[in-house]
Parts: sequence; structure tokens; C-alpha cells
Amino acid sequence: MSAAATIGIPLTSSTTLIDDALRTGSTPDMALLEATALSLAEVDANNEIRITAMLGAARFFYICGKPQTGIRVAEKAKAFALETAQMLPTISACIALGACAADSGDLPKAMQAYAEGLNLAQRIGNKGLESRLWLNTGAALIYTGLYREAIACFEKVLELGKSDASVSVLFPDALQNIALCSLNLDEIGPGINAIKRSIELAPEPTDALTIQNRVLAENYYTRLLIEISDFDGATRHAKRARELANRSQSARTDIQASVAEGLAETFSGYLDVGITRLHQTLERSRELKLASPLVLIALVKALEFAGRHDEALKFLQEMLNQQRKTAEANVLHHVHQHLVRLHDAAANAPIEDVKQVMRRMETRVEVVEGRVAKAEVILQRQELFKARVEAMERLAVAAELRDDSTGEHSYRVGRMACLLAKEAGCDDETIFMIDIAARLHDVGKIGIPDGILLKPSGFNPSERLVMEMHAEIGADVLARSEIPHIKMAEEIARHHHERWDGKGYPAKIGGDEIPFAARITALADVYDALTHKRPYKEAWTVEATLNEILASRGSHFDPKLTDLFLALVSRLRREHRDLDHHLGEAARASPFIQARGKIWETLKLAKDEYQQQFQRTMDLQR
Ligand SMILES: [Fe+2]
Ligand SMILES: [Fe+2]
Repeated sequence: MSAAATIGIPLTSSTTLIDDALRTGSTPDMALLEATALSLAEVDANNEIRITAMLGAARFFYICGKPQTGIRVAEKAKAFALETAQMLPTISACIALGACAADSGDLPKAMQAYAEGLNLAQRIGNKGLESRLWLNTGAALIYTGLYREAIACFEKVLELGKSDASVSVLFPDALQNIALCSLNLDEIGPGINAIKRSIELAPEPTDALTIQNRVLAENYYTRLLIEISDFDGATRHAKRARELANRSQSARTDIQASVAEGLAETFSGYLDVGITRLHQTLERSRELKLASPLVLIALVKALEFAGRHDEALKFLQEMLNQQRKTAEANVLHHVHQHLVRLHDAAANAPIEDVKQVMRRMETRVEVVEGRVAKAEVILQRQELFKARVEAMERLAVAAELRDDSTGEHSYRVGRMACLLAKEAGCDDETIFMIDIAARLHDVGKIGIPDGILLKPSGFNPSERLVMEMHAEIGADVLARSEIPHIKMAEEIARHHHERWDGKGYPAKIGGDEIPFAARITALADVYDALTHKRPYKEAWTVEATLNEILASRGSHFDPKLTDLFLALVSRLRREHRDLDHHLGEAARASPFIQARGKIWETLKLAKDEYQQQFQRTMDLQR
């Protein structure tokens, strides 16, 4: 969006427009409000007033469910605050940007914004803003199912509150989120403690937003109590949720209360009443076009409890489809936005169709091709491809984080696959493409629920089927992504679990029928997955892994490629003392992985400090 500078609305009317929208909650002309907010960076007036209005507008778009617009305004506000050296507004802009990005499903962008904000808040020692950032980071991590890391963020808020009383206003939210994480991690005791404290500390809800929050807390409380078979307690809290919801007009709040009631009734033995209520609630959320995963989860749970497994399976299927659709739509949307922005950065002409843009960019490269040396052209092409794939890559890594908390697996697989391609005699361009394309091999995991992906024990047959769907989901998303030259990545995503003997999935093709890049990636992927720890398995030694790969030569893996791979790994181990470090070089260059690493490092550091302090206290007491 670069048109805003020409609007030229005077400062006072701009800020009035934004103020009115914020104060009254009225829906103004969204396009005008966005243009006005963006134009504020260009007007010649008081910097503080301008930034306050811009941040107000970003918050407004967030509240009314327009996070994409919020992102654009927050990005502009951040750039402006930085330019005019306004520290606190820069941090606030990071918070607004992160919140909008997380809300729109772009976790990598959110993490980058939060990490930047955290860095600044810590540098100036502002604990209030730092706590807000930890709270938001934790919330963003919940979106991706990283519950344990999320808890660490919320605990950081509680810890900061010990030395700064102003932080305590965030305690109820932090504790409520800890309860939600505990519920998902099946850690019921800590969950109950957290939600109890959260409700005790929270002031009596008064407006729609605080009522909604409290109903959600009562909903978590009900579900946690059901897990320890305290059905009387669950019924009490479900009733409380209902009383509160009746004071609010919000349909969302009403649905949360009905879910709590339906579950409490079912588990207290009133099966028909509870299940009927949940069915009606599902209908209602469908009518209102509200996302209904929570209702579906509750209904599946209630039907399972009632022994109605076939019905439960039907709704489970619906839930999976819904999750898959939402995840796919999110990825495609962000990749599209990324391609549009990429074009915007390269040219200022207005664009309507991404494919058209891409053709224009290709032509530009071809024009350049006529003028400069071939090597340079290849390099330009490669840079262009890398830039186009970037958003998809970040989202693939974010999906993978649940499985591999460092986020380096995809990059190491890409690197190892391209080294194997080199051994197999591929040309430089193919080698480059395999490196980038293989990084995306598991992008389909975006559509797989945490409960299956992270299951510590083996899969039952239907869970296995769901897990195996990641190959097709990934290929599907890549095919629909508008990124040119993505064919190889699509083939890798679809076929990296095929086996040489035809017993793999999804197509069950064998031998040379399996695309070459997929055969290569299969070796790199299995090697890396086996040699690293996952939530459901320990790391294997390199020796044991290589023996396994050798034993699967000609059954799982292409025999010729297996020989090349085994020789390659022995050579690489001789050349690099830390092979993982060498293969993960591209990961460490990614701003998203850096942001994540920074957040994690601070959390770990904080924990160590806390433990030391605790140890010291204990020593003194002895
Ligand atoms: Fe996979
Ligand atoms: Fe993998």
C-alpha cells in the first residue's frame, strides 16, 4: 500500500476519525481509515500524536477482526516510530504487529515482532511492556500447539510481577492461559490450580470482553474438573458460565457457556440432555458461521463417553477437515500476500493477479539475461526463487516446530538432500532447487492435529491414516500456491514417504517411478529424523541409523542412492566435527529461527536464574 501518502488529510481530522472509531466501536469506512492511518507517517506534525493515532488504528483493525489491515498499519507505525526514535511506541507497534500477525495465522511474523519488542523492552528495563510481550508470545505459541513453551512464557509474566506490581493486572490472563495449556497437555492438577487462581485474581467482569474472558475461564474449569471426575464441581462452574453469558449479547460467549453445560450434563449422567445441547450448539455456531472446533471436540468427547463411537468418528472427521481447510487457507493467504509484497517491493505498478506479476518478474530476469553473464543470471533466478518461497518456508518450519522444537530439521534435510544430489551427478541448478524444495517436504503437517502429531505411543489405524495425509496435504498446498517452479517441491512433498518396493504411501509407487528428488529426500529425511530426539522418540546413534538405512537398501530406499548416501555421510562426518551444525547453517540464517531462538534462550536463562535463586534460598535455610 503506497497510495496513502497522497491522501493528505489534515492531522486533526485523521486522529478524530480514528478516535471516534475506537471510542464508539462504530464501523467507519475501513479503506478510508487505513489510508488515513498510513498517511499519518507523511504529515508534518507532532510525532507523538501521529504515532498514537496510528497505533490506535492498528488496534482497532485487530479488534474488528481485520488483522491483515492491522499488520499493514502496525508495520508502518513501527517503521515510523523507529525513524523518529520513539522507543515505547516502537515496542507497542511490535505488540500490535505480533497480535495481528498471530491472529491472521502467521506465527513466524508474530514471533519476529515479539522477539524484536522483547529485546527493546528488556534493554530499557520496562517490565510492563516486557510482560505484555511474554503474554502475547505465549498466546501465539498456543496457536501452534507449543504448549510447554507457551507455559514458560506465562510463567515469565508471573515472575516479572514479583518485582513490578503493575504487572499483576496480567496475572489472571497468564494463569488462564496456563490452564488451557495444561488441559491440552493432560496435566490436570496444575491446570486446576492455575484456573482457580486466575478466577480469584480477576476483577468481577463488567463489559462484553471481560465477560467473554471469564466464561472461557469457567469453560476451562469445567473441562478440567471433568477430567478428575468431579462432576458436581464441573456442573457448578458450567452454571456460573451460563449466568455470566446471559449478561452478555455475544454469540461467541453464549456458545462457550453451552459447551461447558453440555459437557457437564453428559458426564454427570444426563447423556441425552448434554449431547442434544452440544448438537444444538454446533448448529448454532454453523448458522452464525463461527469456527466450531471447540464445539466439535466437546461433541466427540461426549459421544465417545456415551459409547456412540460411529457418530463420534463422523464429527472427528468433520473436525479434521475443518482444521485442514483453515490451515490450508491460512498458508495460501500468507503466501499470496508475500508474493504481492515481493512484487510491490520490486515495482510500484498496481497489481491484480499474482500470476501476471510473476510473469512480469520472469520477463525482467530474461531481459537482464541478455545483458549479463550466465552465472549472474542463474544467481538472480535462484535469489528470486528463494524470495518467493520464503513465506511458505517459514510456515512449513512453524508447522514442524511441534515435532522438532529447534526448527532446523527441514533445513538440514534440504542441505543433506542437495549434497546427495551432487553425489548423484546433478547439475548446479537441480542441486540448488533440491535444497530449497526439500525444506518443504513436511509442509502438509499444518493440517495434522497436535493430538496425533505428538502422540507418544504408536498410532491406531485411523490415526495412521490421518498422519499419512500430510503428504497429500503438502502437495496440494504447494500446487495451489501460485509460486512458479514449485513442481519439484510438490513432488517431494507428495512422494517422500514412498518406498522403493512400492509399500510406502500415498501413491504406493515403487522404483524409478518415484520422482528422483523424492527418493533423495526420503534418505535425508529418515537419517535426520532418526538421529534426533522427537517428542515421541529418543535420538538414535549415527551408527544405528546408518545400519538401519543399509538394512533398508532396496526395500525402503533406492539401492544406488543408498550406497552414495552411506559414503557421503562417512565423508561428511570426517570433514565436519559437528555435522548437524554444518547442515543447519541455512536455518540459523533465517530471521524466524533467530527470533525463536532468542525467545527460547531468554526463557531458559530466566529459568536458570530463577533456579539459582531458589537454590541459594534453600542453601541458606539449611
Ligand atoms: Fe513426512
Ligand atoms: Fe521430515
